[in-house]
Amino acid sequence: MKVVVIQGPNLNMLGIREQNIYGNMKLDDIHRLMAGVAEQNGVEIEFFQSNLEGEIVDKIQECLGDAEGIIINPAAYTHTSIAIRDAISAVRIPTIEVHLSNIYQREEFRHKSLTAPVCAGQITGFGPFGYHLAIISIIQIMSEVASLQQESATE
Ligand code: DQA
Repeated sequence: MKVVVIQGPNLNMLGIREQNIYGNMKLDDIHRLMAGVAEQNGVEIEFFQSNLEGEIVDKIQECLGDAEGIIINPAAYTHTSIAIRDAISAVRIPTIEVHLSNIYQREEFRHKSLTAPVCAGQITGFGPFGYHLAIISIIQIMSEVASLQQESATE
């Protein structure tokens, strides 16, 4: 089983950008913790970060046939990108949306997520711990899907 973690624009700046909102943990440190959980569960994990919308769309499409789960923080594209929403919807791979900050406590333009309706769920406001919740949740979902597929194959 494989999960792909997709990080949107400016998340490469974690640890530098607005530490009062996003904390001081760097993206690599978050990924290291996630990789530990994945390894403990025998799950393969890949990390991808891009500041470009089209590259994120390409990466989601590449998950088809390659991964059984996606964790995505589309960052600012959460609030604007129909293209990323359509890509998530097109591949039909269970996807969890993560935000470090609580987007509903912030400016009104952040209250709307175009991507959340096509995701299995959204985790928002728990800081870096949200990624821990996301990896545990996606492993659970992937296991449930795999055992359902096994059941229907033996019927
Ligand atoms: C974010 C929230 C977005 O509104 C913002 O544009 C980001 C980060 C978060 O993780 O809290 O870049 O996705």
